[in-house]
Amino acid sequence: MTLELQPLFPLALAQVQLRLDPLELAVMLQEVLALRGSAEGNPNPGCAWTGDINGVWQLHRLPAFAGVCEQLRRHSWGYLEALGFAREGLALHIQRAWPVVSAPGQAVGRHHHPNAHLSAILYLNGDGSGRSGCLRLFPPRAINELVPGLAVGHGGPLCPERPAAARWNAPWFDLAPRAGLLVLFPAGTDHAVTPNDDPEELRLSLAFDLVLSAPPAGPHDPAPPEYLAPHPSQWTPLACP
Ligand SMILES: [Fe+2]
Repeated sequence: MTLELQPLFPLALAQVQLRLDPLELAVMLQEVLALRGSAEGNPNPGCAWTGDINGVWQLHRLPAFAGVCEQLRRHSWGYLEALGFAREGLALHIQRAWPVVSAPGQAVGRHHHPNAHLSAILYLNGDGSGRSGCLRLFPPRAINELVPGLAVGHGGPLCPERPAAARWNAPWFDLAPRAGLLVLFPAGTDHAVTPNDDPEELRLSLAFDLVLSAPPAGPHDPAPPEYLAPHPSQWTPLACP
């Protein structure tokens, strides 16, 4: 009789390597650097430059990024289908899209995107080594730690260097960027970017906040499902008095 452990409740991380036309990629790289201009980082010391807090939050409306948005559209729908969603009951939106430039020594702290439902990142460069900084994904909590704190405290008895502990109690998962790699994951997942340790290279990526809603409903269509927001075109703004 062998004891078997079954992994339950997996987090759905999608990875797909896009084929980017070299010219299109070169234009995007150039555009991102031009949008960043002379800025070097975010206000917090050591933090990479992120377009979302620097006025560059609508990449999806710029012609240079139309091709990758089209690829993102296809793969996002594939992701939703893979999770069991029915396409006909959904509409999918890019709410915000911005570039991230991490210079040598810079990082992005742990955070998540509570305003969105699905997060997507496209890497414009990276060789798969992780030297320029990895995407670090955190589990919602250490569900197999049994006694809270054992996975981080000193002196065990849970030993992170043991393969079994690394598998069942990993404090995070690191994903190394590679040019053209698109990743998708639930927007509520805590994540960070580890420091860029390559003294020679700027790390460039595009981030997308995607939102699900119901499709636009006509007068004879069924009402949107209870917990899915109606389509934004059917919302009514209430002006500030
Ligand atoms: Fe993020």
